[in-house]
Order: sequence, then structure tokens, then C-alpha cells
Amino acid sequence: YTAEIDASDIEKGTYAHYMLKEMDEQPAVIRNIIQHYQNENGDIELTEGVRELVSEADRVYIVACGTSYHAGLVGKQLIERVAGVPTEVHVASEFGYNMPLLTEKPLFLFISQSGETADSRAVLVEVKKLGHKALTLTNVAGSTLSREANETMLLHAGPEIAVASTKAYTAQIAVLAILAYDIARANGKKLPFDLMQELALVATTMDSIMAQKEIFEELADKFLKESRNAFFLGRGLDSYVGLEGALKLKEISYIQAEGYPGGELKHGPIALIEDGTPVITLVSQPNTHLNIRGNIKEVVARGAVACTISMEGMEHENDAFVLPRVEPLLTPLVTVLPLQLISYYAALARDCDVDKPRNLAKSVTVE
Ligand code: G6P
Repeated sequence: YTAEIDASDIEKGTYAHYMLKEMDEQPAVIRNIIQHYQNENGDIELTEGVRELVSEADRVYIVACGTSYHAGLVGKQLIERVAGVPTEVHVASEFGYNMPLLTEKPLFLFISQSGETADSRAVLVEVKKLGHKALTLTNVAGSTLSREANETMLLHAGPEIAVASTKAYTAQIAVLAILAYDIARANGKKLPFDLMQELALVATTMDSIMAQKEIFEELADKFLKESRNAFFLGRGLDSYVGLEGALKLKEISYIQAEGYPGGELKHGPIALIEDGTPVITLVSQPNTHLNIRGNIKEVVARGAVACTISMEGMEHENDAFVLPRVEPLLTPLVTVLPLQLISYYAALARDCDVDKPRNLAKSVTVE
């Protein structure tokens, strides 16, 4: 199963860190995914096995951990909004205690970069015992979760070595979008936009963000070098990406970071805002951008320093970075890049071991 890997994939080359290399690879990974999942006519093509599995399902139960769980949150929105199939997302380690009620034809969707995470595997073993079907989205062909599920969709992201996951997250979201489109097609739904074309645009947008890394290095120096804590705000899809941004920051820079939906601010976290507290906010959703601007004002009025990353059409004068516009349902694929880069440079500025953060493992094979 190593056919897709050549030596250059697992060497850092001229890069200082695997994480930097892997962030840089994201546009190529998206293009790779487009190629792998489309036929000569440019239509989405999944294996018959996957198609059969998903067309039967009356509800999707996503199970994952860590960054893959965060991709699952975005996946739920994609599957529900594009395909109209109810979808739940569960943290694997909690599944056993908070077992959801299952529908008649549940489809279990495991998302795992490594395909080896023990908590996710424990759930897979359990649901197979109950006779349910499972599909695994993984980066590693032949991994345990891939072998033990009924079907697999590969992420085609190439080996991910850095402990902090970057390209696997964006690959997972792209593959989830493709899956959502295929379920929609199977159910005879009208497709909202040309997915492959929009993904190609996402790749171009990613290129342009990665070409401006110095901006994020400056932002990290300015906002996070000396900081003990940080907040990530957003509404709608932006709130999920904020969770991932906070996770990246705590994983590699050891800054205490919290991701919050903007509306929840007043129910607790606003008590923690002091003079100089960094608040990183995403503004990429047309239906929530006015409300999230209100939240930025609230925190600034209490002394926070705002680092706002917005999207064209929703930008304000003092925003730290304005992203080129992409399809609103696909914004997590681009809004996460600035957050990954800011975390990376914050970790560097604080002399942290970026690729091997303390206490963490790339793949957690114990429950
Ligand atoms: C570990 C890694 C994370 C990863 C999580 C889930 O905690 O450090 O980066 O998101 O496991 O891993 P998986 O391989 O199942 O996606």
C-alpha cells in the first residue's frame, strides 16, 4: 500500500518543519483529490461500493477525534445542506457513554487521518457487532479503520508527519464535500454549485494565501508571542474553523486557546477578556457577518486586541487579512490556512518544537 508514496514525500527537503511543508502542500492535495474523484467527463465518480452504502443511509453518524472531529463538524453541514440527509457528529471516546438513538439504516462514517486511532476503532468494532455499515475516510490505505470498515474513501493527501494535522483536515473537508455531492446525486437533489470547479478555485485561493506567509508571521509576533491565552470567534461554519484554530494553537504553541461561537461569548468567555487579550475572528459567512462584527466590537470595548480575518465582500478597513471569495459552504478550506500559519509562527516565536509538541502523539493507539 505504499505505491502512492515516494521518498520525497517523507523528507522535509528545504523546509524547516514538516508542518510548514504540509501546509504548503494543501493546494496540490486539493488538486489531487479533484483528479482522483472525477471521471473523464468531470463528474464525481465514487466506487460502486461507496455509492451503494451511502444511497441506502437514512442518517449519517460521523465518528472521529481531534482535528478529524473538527472536519466532521463541517462535514455534517455539507451532508445536510447539500444532500439533505440528517447527520450527527460524535467524539469517538464519548460514543460508548452517549450512544445516540439509531435510525433504521444508519451509516457510520469514520474520519481518521491515520486510520489507527483506538477510540474510533472501538466504536467501529461496536457498531459492526450491531450489524451496521461503516465507511472510513482516511489518509492511509490498508490502515485498521480502512480494513475493518465496509468501504474506504482515501484522502490522497500524502504522508502527514507533523503531529499537528493540517493538510489532512482540508483533505477531509474536500472529500466530505465530494461525498455530500454524491449522496445528493443519488437522492436526486439539485446540486447548489459545480463542486469540482469551486474546489479548483479553492486550490488557487490557497496558493495565494500561502504566498503571503510573512503577513501571518507578523500577526503571530504581534498578537501571540507574549500571550498566555487567546480566543477564536466565528459564527456558522466559521465557529467550527475557530475550534480547529484554537486546537492548532494549543497543540504547538502551548497558549491556552478557546474557540467559541460569537453568540456564546456573552454567556461566559467575555469575562476573561482583559487589556491585550488576543481575539482572532473569522468573518466569511454572508448570513452571519453582521452579527460577528457586533461581537468584535464587544470584545474590543473590553480591551481585547482584534485580529480579524475576513472574506472579500465582508471586509472592514482594519481587518488583519482579507481572503479572496470562495463558495460560502467551502470557506473552511481556506479560512483555516491563516489560522494554521498563525499557530505555526506563534510556536516558532515561542521556541516550541513545532513538529513534535510535548505530550502529544501523531496517532493515539490507546483508548
Ligand atoms: C492525535 C493527533 C491529532 C489528530 C487526532 C486524530 O491526537 O495528534 O492531530 O487529529 O489524533 O487522529 P486521526 O488519525 O484519527 O485523524
